[in-house]
Amino acid sequence: MNKTYKDQFPDNFLWGGAVAANQVEGGWDEGGKGLDLASCFLRGLTNGFIGLPDTDKYHPEREAIDFYHRYKEDIRLFSELGFKVFRTSIHWTRIFPTGEEKEPSEEGLKFYDDLFDELLKYGIQPLITISHYEMPYHLVEKYGSWRSRRLIDFFERYCRVIFNRYKDKVKYWLTFNEINNIRRNAGYVGGIIFKENENRMQSIYQASHNMFVANAKAIRLCHEIIPDAKIGCMMSLSNIYPNNCDPVAVFETQDVRRRSLFFGDVMLKGYYPTYIYRLWKENDVHIEMQDGDLELISKYKNEFPAFSYYRTTTHEAGQPYFGDTGGDVGTPNPYLETSEWGWQIDPIGFRYTLNELWDRYQVPLFPVENGLGAKDVVVNGKIHDDYRIEYLKKHLNALKEAIKDGVDVMGYAYWGPIDIVSAGTLEMEKRYGFIYVDKDNDGNGTLERIRKDSFEWYKQVIDSNGKDL
Ligand code: BG6
Repeated sequence: MNKTYKDQFPDNFLWGGAVAANQVEGGWDEGGKGLDLASCFLRGLTNGFIGLPDTDKYHPEREAIDFYHRYKEDIRLFSELGFKVFRTSIHWTRIFPTGEEKEPSEEGLKFYDDLFDELLKYGIQPLITISHYEMPYHLVEKYGSWRSRRLIDFFERYCRVIFNRYKDKVKYWLTFNEINNIRRNAGYVGGIIFKENENRMQSIYQASHNMFVANAKAIRLCHEIIPDAKIGCMMSLSNIYPNNCDPVAVFETQDVRRRSLFFGDVMLKGYYPTYIYRLWKENDVHIEMQDGDLELISKYKNEFPAFSYYRTTTHEAGQPYFGDTGGDVGTPNPYLETSEWGWQIDPIGFRYTLNELWDRYQVPLFPVENGLGAKDVVVNGKIHDDYRIEYLKKHLNALKEAIKDGVDVMGYAYWGPIDIVSAGTLEMEKRYGFIYVDKDNDGNGTLERIRKDSFEWYKQVIDSNGKDL
C-alpha cells in the first residue's frame, strides 16, 4: 500500500471545541473592559445592525454564560470530554478598552493568563482568535473602523502585547474570525457602518486590504516573538452549489464562491488574484495601498486556513448573490434536511469543502467550527439530543473520508461544546452544546451546567481517536 495513504485520524489529531469571548464570557463591563463591537449589536449577525446598545433592552451576550467567572468549572468539563484543544478569543477591549491606550490593562491580561493556565493544567492547547467581532467600539466611531489604516497600528500593538505575554502558553493563533464575511456583513465582521450613498464595495475592499496588511504584520510579529507557534487565517466556508446544471448557474456559483476564497488566496498564497481586478474595475473600486504593502502580504502568509463549515446553500442562475453587500440567499435543496433555523445539513458538503481547500492551498486545514444549533428539551434533568449525535457522526465520518482522500487535517473543533449565545440571532435557545446551560432567551435560569447525551458520545469519539464513530 502507498505509504502516504491514511485511513484513520492521525495520532496527534487536535480534537476539541470552539467558542468566542463575546458569546460566552459576559462580564461585559467588568475588569475595566471597554465597549466592544459585539455588545453594540441590537439584532445579531443575521440582520447585521449596529448602534449604541440600548440599555433598557435585554442583551444576552452581556452576561452570556458567565464564563468570565465560571471558566474553571467549564474547563474541567472539557477535560472530562478529553479535549486536546480549546478555541476561544481574547476580548480586545479587556486588554485595550478603547483600542488607543498606550499601555494594556493588567487586569485584562491577568484574566487570560489564568484562563490559559487552567487549560494547560489539563493538557488542553489554547487556540486563540485575536479578533472575533470584539474590536473596540471606540475605533468604529472615531476612525470608521478598518476603513482607516490607523487600525493597523492599533491591531499591531495589541498583537505585540498578547504575543509577548502569552508566548509560553499559546502556540496556535488565528487573526480575524470569518474575515471573508466582511463582503456580506461588513458591520459585524469589520465594524463598517455604511453612510448614505457610499460605494460599499469600495469600503469593504479597502477595509479588507487594511486587514490583510494587519494580518501580515501579525504573522511577522508572531514568528519573531513565538517562533514555535502557528498562525492561521479564519474564514466562513460553508459551501454553495448550483441548483441545476445550467452553465450560467454553474459559473455564477464559482464566481460567488471565489468571492469568499479570495480572502484565502491573498492570505495563504500571498498575492491578489487576477480575477479581483475585474470586479474592482466594474464597481469603481480603487484600493489605496502604500509602498511595501504587497511585499508584506507576499512575505508573511498564514500557515493554515481555519474555517467554519455548517451547511450548504444553492444558487439559481440570475439570482442576485448580493455581491459584496448582503447575505447569500439560496434556493432549497431537495436532497437535504434542514435544521430548525433553516440551515441545510450536508455532511458530504463538508468532505467536498475539505477537498476543495486542500486542492487549492496544499497546506494543513483546521475546521474550527461545525455543529448543530437546535432546541433542547430537559426531561427529568436529562437532555436526549440524538439529533446532535447524528449530525456529528455524519460530519466526522465525512471528515474521515476526506482524510482518506488525502487531505491533511490538523484537528477538529466543534462549535459551541457548551451552550452559548448565538451570534446570528442573539439568543440562548439555539443550542449547540454537549453541555446544557440553564438559561433562556429572556435571561431566566440558574446557569447550571448539565451533560447532554452527546457529551458521552463525543467523549468516546475522542477516547478512541475517531475509531468509534
Ligand atoms: C459563525 C461565527 O459565523 O457561526 C460564530 O464565527 C457563530 O460566532 C457561528 O456563533 C454559528 O452561528 P449562530 O448564528 O448559530 O451563532
